[in-house]
Amino acid sequence: MTRDTPDETEDAALETDGGSDTASGADDVALDPWGSSTVSDYRKLFEEFGIEAFDEALGEVPEPHYLMRRGVIFGHRDYRPVARALREGEDAAVLSGFMPTGDPHIGHKLVFDEIIWHQQRGADAYGLIADLEAHSARGLSWDEIDDHARDYLLSLLALGFDPEEGELYRQSTNREVQDLAFELGSNARFAEFEGIYGFDGETSVSHMQSVVTQMADILYPQLEEPKPTVIPVGPDQDPHMRLARDVAARMRYFKVTEAYASFEADAAERDHLAAAYAALDDADGVRCEDAADWLDAEMAPDAARDAAIDKLRAAGKEPLRPRVRFLDRNATDAAFDALIEAVPGEKRRYDEHIDAFEMDRAAAEDLAREVEVDHGGFGFVPPSSIYHRFMTGLTGGKMSSSVPASHISLLDDPQDGYDKVKAATTGGRETADKQRELGGEADECPVYELYAYLLAGDDDEFATEVYEECVGGERLCGGCKEQAAELMREFLEEHQAKRAEVEDLLADLDIDLESERRGVPGDGH
Ligand code: TRP
Ligand code: SF4
Repeated sequence: MTRDTPDETEDAALETDGGSDTASGADDVALDPWGSSTVSDYRKLFEEFGIEAFDEALGEVPEPHYLMRRGVIFGHRDYRPVARALREGEDAAVLSGFMPTGDPHIGHKLVFDEIIWHQQRGADAYGLIADLEAHSARGLSWDEIDDHARDYLLSLLALGFDPEEGELYRQSTNREVQDLAFELGSNARFAEFEGIYGFDGETSVSHMQSVVTQMADILYPQLEEPKPTVIPVGPDQDPHMRLARDVAARMRYFKVTEAYASFEADAAERDHLAAAYAALDDADGVRCEDAADWLDAEMAPDAARDAAIDKLRAAGKEPLRPRVRFLDRNATDAAFDALIEAVPGEKRRYDEHIDAFEMDRAAAEDLAREVEVDHGGFGFVPPSSIYHRFMTGLTGGKMSSSVPASHISLLDDPQDGYDKVKAATTGGRETADKQRELGGEADECPVYELYAYLLAGDDDEFATEVYEECVGGERLCGGCKEQAAELMREFLEEHQAKRAEVEDLLADLDIDLESERRGVPGDGH
């Protein structure tokens, strides 16, 4: 790993664009899909939002991508089921979307690469053009959108996306996505949009529609069949992920939990019930009231213990026995009846739930999903996500599509790309002597980032060498930038040649890039 230390110094904030009203309720850290996206302390995202560190899942990923190995992909939500599916050759999917607001640049290439990597490892792959979002939330006309959409798709194909195996679409022309968005919208409330995105009375209805459309994009790979699905995105998209996971769960027919008696208990109470059961279980079984006595005598009092004791006493002589429980969320009567029929072994039926005594949780989840799908439900697996770091702008600060010198567009003339790298700020010292003495600050250097994120490609040794030579004082910025600039020129030349080669491939695809749509773009509210 050549780069995994988050910036220690700055204070944490995903800054919003100044006066923007989209991050109301933001305290220290805000994640705003329509604000400007910079993160100065990635660790805060773990604490504040429950994003998990990618490092901890890395060992479960077969032949991880260099962006994973180098900590560029720094976080995830629930990626393990996807990693497992890739390892075991089971069904999985990958999907991401692009707002066609400008040229695709080297930051977008990270996401293109992530999609393609998953596709090459057997996942069903999807790339979409978020044209409804660009029109309603960013104010682009349909003509502008058509032009940019074409450029994103060409770059994605040029980098290796296989359109025969995968699918590319525009939000506006995918009827299934629109139908799914409508369906999901029944389970999303305006009050949530206010809480999550800071929407208010000024927010346009089309902007809201673009949000349910994104929920539908995220779940679209599961329409044919539920499967683990990963959405590679920047952390600014995490609010969408949380909402998509919630909405997906709300669509389910059944919720599977573990229980010990007829009453409901939360996770902390269940731990106490489990402890009592483990301590008392013998051939005669355990009664609830005896478990209450045991908890009273053996466990230190706290809210969960006391609540468990109350529930156990109320249940009296009822046996305490571990079981899995299927709670009825949205099941049709037929699905409920079919589930009780399908549960193997001893079971008990209640009004709103079914208890099964001879199944484990994983088997219960599978069965619940199967019955749901057989009875007209979607059976969604909660979608997973992986998050990459934002690249630093070449001029320092954030990389921004609206500041040409700060980023390198995939369409930049190769010589311009060369020049931009040569002009970039560095983590170097004021003088060559000082650099030899103290070493450069590779961790603060946008040029080093170019090596790690792109120019070194899969070659870890090369990336490490640049890093070590820099911090060891053997590498000076002039030569280092010359080398990077040269590599950038080669990359752009090659990429653009490939783009020209895949023109025909794009033309053959069933995707309309000359839309006849009319209309007035939204003003971003
Ligand atoms: N909102 C995303 C962006 O701003 C684009 C997008 C639309 C998307 N649908 C998606 C991203 C589904 C990931 C998955 O770039
Ligand atoms: Fe950056 Fe290279 Fe200078 Fe190190 S030597 S600070 S990596 S430009």
